[in-house]
Amino acid sequence: MALLSLALARHVARGLQPLRRLCASGWLREADVDLFLRLLHPALRLNRVFARVEARRWVADDMLAIELRCNGNARDWRAGQHVQLYLEQDGVRHGRSYSLTRVTDDGRIELAIKRQPGGRLSNLLLDRLAVGEVIELGQAFGDFAWPQEQGAVLLLAAGSGITPLLGLLREALARGFAAPVTLLHQVRRQGQQAFAEELQALAARHANLQVRWAFSGETGGRLTAAQLAALPGEHLLLCGPRGFVEQACGWWRDAGRGGSLQAESFSPLPVLAEADTDEVRLRFARSGQQVSGNGNASLLEQAEASGLRPAHGCRQGICTSCTCLLLAGTVRDLRSGELFAEPNQPIRLCVSAPHGDVEIDL
Ligand code: FES
Repeated sequence: MALLSLALARHVARGLQPLRRLCASGWLREADVDLFLRLLHPALRLNRVFARVEARRWVADDMLAIELRCNGNARDWRAGQHVQLYLEQDGVRHGRSYSLTRVTDDGRIELAIKRQPGGRLSNLLLDRLAVGEVIELGQAFGDFAWPQEQGAVLLLAAGSGITPLLGLLREALARGFAAPVTLLHQVRRQGQQAFAEELQALAARHANLQVRWAFSGETGGRLTAAQLAALPGEHLLLCGPRGFVEQACGWWRDAGRGGSLQAESFSPLPVLAEADTDEVRLRFARSGQQVSGNGNASLLEQAEASGLRPAHGCRQGICTSCTCLLLAGTVRDLRSGELFAEPNQPIRLCVSAPHGDVEIDL
């Protein structure tokens, strides 16, 4: 049972700076302090972000929006950024990135989770995450932002790519953005138009907003270069699977439309041909651990499997928060297959796999 309310725990979190300094200088262990803090409230921690589920609502047949209240350690988060959400199942910790569709000053955030066929974590979250539960989040990352320049804005989303765009759109309209905005959301079929009611209500309230949907599962429903050319807008923000984003960016540039372009894609990393599956030795220098590993999984996954908790965000090589020094050995970039062997060069753990024995400054 919590001794403090979450509101009070958030207040306490603001006053923990002296303890943070003692931990940073090695006088206290953060894990020990956290053990005590969690007795006061299950979400209270020194630095890590924990949040309580406040509400859940279905916003499409296959998408659930969850509202969470954070513990006071989520600082400077913005709608349109992404956070890693962690859940433990059968003693194994899983993490996935989701976009922030709303961030409020009192520590409330909203995330939207799309059901992935066969997706272990998404199904677990959609079916079992209950109001009142406390879960851990990573720090927010991502640079998606509403265009600073004047002019009409075109938002293109496919699938769950609607989530960061919705966060930015809500804030821009609330701030009084008055130039024309067109949002096109491409989904596979009827019923997948996430937040459709809210978007229609926004369009009814804001004469400068137009919302359209396209159904890629229907003949002629997929966005084409000609359709993109006919959509108004000087500044383009788009988000969706890698193929959708790359194609639309190409059409936009080929058409010489100028203005600004921001794009984010969330497809999993391309799977390269499997590397040598022989056992390799991984040495994590700062934690003094030496473990066996393999040449296929990322160093981030292998470090986590060894009980370490390296800082990370996107797990896709984008945010740089998992950057560490390679002290010795060779690593392979899981996206390109390129090898890196220079000692003391920074590498991103989430997209680097060992290519033989390696030593990492972790
Ligand atoms: S976790 Fe974002 S770059 Fe590795």
